[in-house]
Amino acid sequence: MNDQSRREFIGFIGRTALAAWALPELIGCASPGSGHASLPFQPISPTSADDLVLANGFKYDLLIKWKDPLGGGRAFGTNNDYTAFFQLSPRSADDGILWVNHEAVDTIFVSGWTKKSRRTLSQVKAEMREVGGSLVHIRKNKDKWQVVKGSRFNRRIDAQTKIPFVSERPISGKKFAIGTLGNCAGGVTPWGTVLTCEENYDHFFGEYRYNDQGKSEWFTNPEDIGWREFFPYSPEHYGWVVEVNPRTGSAKKLTALGRFRHECATTTLARDGRVVVYSGEDAANEFLYKFISKRPGSLEEGELFVANTHEGRWLSLSYAKSPELQKRFRDQTEVLIRAREAARLLGATPLDRPEDIEVDPQTGAVLVTLTNNIAKGNFHGTIFRLAEENNDPLAQRFSSSTFMVGGEKNGFSCPDNMVFDRKGNLWLCCDVSDRYLNKPPYVAYGNNALFYIPMSGPHSGRAYRVASAPATAEFTGPSFSPDGRTLFLSVQHPGEGTTDLKNPLSHWPGPRGSMPKSSVVCLSGPALDALVL
Ligand code: FEO
Ligand code: CA
Ligand code: CA
Repeated sequence: MNDQSRREFIGFIGRTALAAWALPELIGCASPGSGHASLPFQPISPTSADDLVLANGFKYDLLIKWKDPLGGGRAFGTNNDYTAFFQLSPRSADDGILWVNHEAVDTIFVSGWTKKSRRTLSQVKAEMREVGGSLVHIRKNKDKWQVVKGSRFNRRIDAQTKIPFVSERPISGKKFAIGTLGNCAGGVTPWGTVLTCEENYDHFFGEYRYNDQGKSEWFTNPEDIGWREFFPYSPEHYGWVVEVNPRTGSAKKLTALGRFRHECATTTLARDGRVVVYSGEDAANEFLYKFISKRPGSLEEGELFVANTHEGRWLSLSYAKSPELQKRFRDQTEVLIRAREAARLLGATPLDRPEDIEVDPQTGAVLVTLTNNIAKGNFHGTIFRLAEENNDPLAQRFSSSTFMVGGEKNGFSCPDNMVFDRKGNLWLCCDVSDRYLNKPPYVAYGNNALFYIPMSGPHSGRAYRVASAPATAEFTGPSFSPDGRTLFLSVQHPGEGTTDLKNPLSHWPGPRGSMPKSSVVCLSGPALDALVL
């Protein structure tokens, strides 16, 4: 694909670099600790308010919330995360399908189960309907996005949907999996499908762990929610990247991209039209991966690599090329199923919880949020910057540096999801765990927040607080509408950590006394227009 086509693709996903960034008139000053700056809004201060607090010049409309009906007896799932908008017709940018991930189950709200009570089949079945993803037909009417009720495009994929593997051989004896789960962040392909990533799959069906000699043992995560008692599905059926056609809802699990706790699957195009996908495993001391497709237009086959950031090298996880892999594993499929073990064996560099990845549309640099590594004393995380040799996504070598450091100086902690706007500036969501929010050493950061980070000009590389999330929630899944004037944003898990339904830790988005509900909101307003138009 030529450079023009590449630019069109990037434009389609709302990340194109257009005119140079120019700061509007001075209207406000930055939040405490971030110095003075001219911006079309007054950045807000950290707050612990149980509300979605916005800087002046921004507004939000609630698009859809947990349990809202989608038609056909199905409803919008819980704990919504990644979002991606697919325009239905080139004639209208205001009519399309929004894909939304549903990541985890807060069982106290969904089924009433807590670790103190016995599990029942009906609880687990109810929870299985809540994860996966929603396809929601939305349309903009008089400047407001609304769900198109009764649309044939409204669908659900959940933990009981039969999904085939694209694989050289069956996985644990099967050609298909039952369900997708742990759907955290994702990506969009150049051909208009969505990639949804199975992250904390070991919370649902357990996992096999392998020691340095390749011996396995059963592992039950402390966060496990006990589905296995009723549905003993193989853990090897989860931890994949799943490709979904938003128009039809058809899905497939792409085994060539490896199996691990995928946070995201961020695509970019090589000059020859092949697709490169960056993905990280969000766990302390896990790795950053790159997949290069065998041919343009498909992710079904290709080569998986893992990063050695000390040496700036991509290490191939190809069984055919590696005597070390041939000694440990029986075939390429086994390497993919046990990708993290194979990566460690070859000398991949452990990282501090790689979360989201975005490709800078102006420079081609790859930004990776490394959210934290508390056991190592890294409480606030960093944003890591990787530059491929000759700016070629197919390169085997790269250089790297730290783009930004979380902490007092920059005013954010635990960077997580990112998105570039149409002018090439960065929006960052942070995720301090609900256990630590507003407690030392995170008191100064308040609730989780959304930041705006100019990428050029005099304020380049500074973070400005735009929005603050309700109590114990995080903002996730930021994505822009095609015209750039709406930022779709998930407000995930308000009230997480609640142990008594009579006293939920949040009531958002309802009034006091109501139960909290994860929701998608549409951020817009004159300040956003001033920044992106
Ligand atoms: Fe689901 Fe790593 O965040
Ligand atoms: Ca995340
Ligand atoms: Ca996170």
